[in-house]
Amino acid sequence: MLGRVTASEVIREAQSGRTRPVLMLCEADAGGAVEVFCKLSAGCFDGVTSLAREVVAACLAIDLNLPVPTPYAVEIPSALASVVTDPEISERLGTSSPIGFGSAKVANQFSAWTAGHRVTEFMLPSVVGAFVFDAVIDNADRKPSNPNCLVSGERLHLIDHELAFPSTAGLPGWRPPWQANALSWLDRADGHLFYPELKMRNLDFGPLRQLWSGISDDRLLEYGQTIPPEWETAQPAVEEALDRVRNARDNLDGVIAEIRRVLQ
Ligand SMILES: Nc1ncnc2c1ncn2[C@@H]1O[C@H](COP(=O)(O)OP(=O)(O)O)[C@@H](O)[C@H]1O
Ligand SMILES: [Mg+2]
Repeated sequence: MLGRVTASEVIREAQSGRTRPVLMLCEADAGGAVEVFCKLSAGCFDGVTSLAREVVAACLAIDLNLPVPTPYAVEIPSALASVVTDPEISERLGTSSPIGFGSAKVANQFSAWTAGHRVTEFMLPSVVGAFVFDAVIDNADRKPSNPNCLVSGERLHLIDHELAFPSTAGLPGWRPPWQANALSWLDRADGHLFYPELKMRNLDFGPLRQLWSGISDDRLLEYGQTIPPEWETAQPAVEEALDRVRNARDNLDGVIAEIRRVLQ
């Protein structure tokens, strides 16, 4: 589910984003080179836990047929830090976990979603799927001021799930997404990126119900097993994330009812 690649060269830093992922040339175990945007633990709010949340989100997105770039565990050889000329990148490499989270670089014609973009009928399944996905994983980081959605024509890529699955222990007033009024946050100022485009639209949640119900408990165990052992401190957060997905799957009718309420 999560391919492993080895970084061979640092190309540049991302031009946007809080964590400044690093574009790297990597070699796949099976041979062949791939360019990935690699998120380093030192740049993240929650270290390797943030990286593990990216992996769980990517696994779930793939099973839901959502367009995410291919995710990777990126092995960063310790020697790489010493050959990188940029001192800031070199320091981050040196202080990060030896495994980063990689997102296969999408083609150059993709650019960030802007207010001028419209959701077409072709995009609708992905957009509705992303809206439900973000509602369940509590991803408040896909919004007009920070779209984390790359678009080219009618094709989309969803990126950046490091802030998803926040621990609910520290969230006052948090409610599970199938409870009434739990998802009002999708409709606040600078709320969900796709909210204005989905509001009042006639939506078919049938295909989504099927995809969600197909995610078995065994499949969720596989998500957990795909987390690199080097990130073992992320384990409690991974369990919490998997519980959240399992519970949402088991209460999907309630989640959809709450989504419909928000979109009215
Ligand atoms: N797979 C990718 N393909 C192309 N560009 C990407 C990809 N992943 C990240 N980027 C670029 O890097 C920026 C920062 O990455 P992102 O995952 O959003 O991290 P951050 O948490 O720093 O915002 C994005 O806004 C985008 O410009
Ligand atoms: Mg981002």
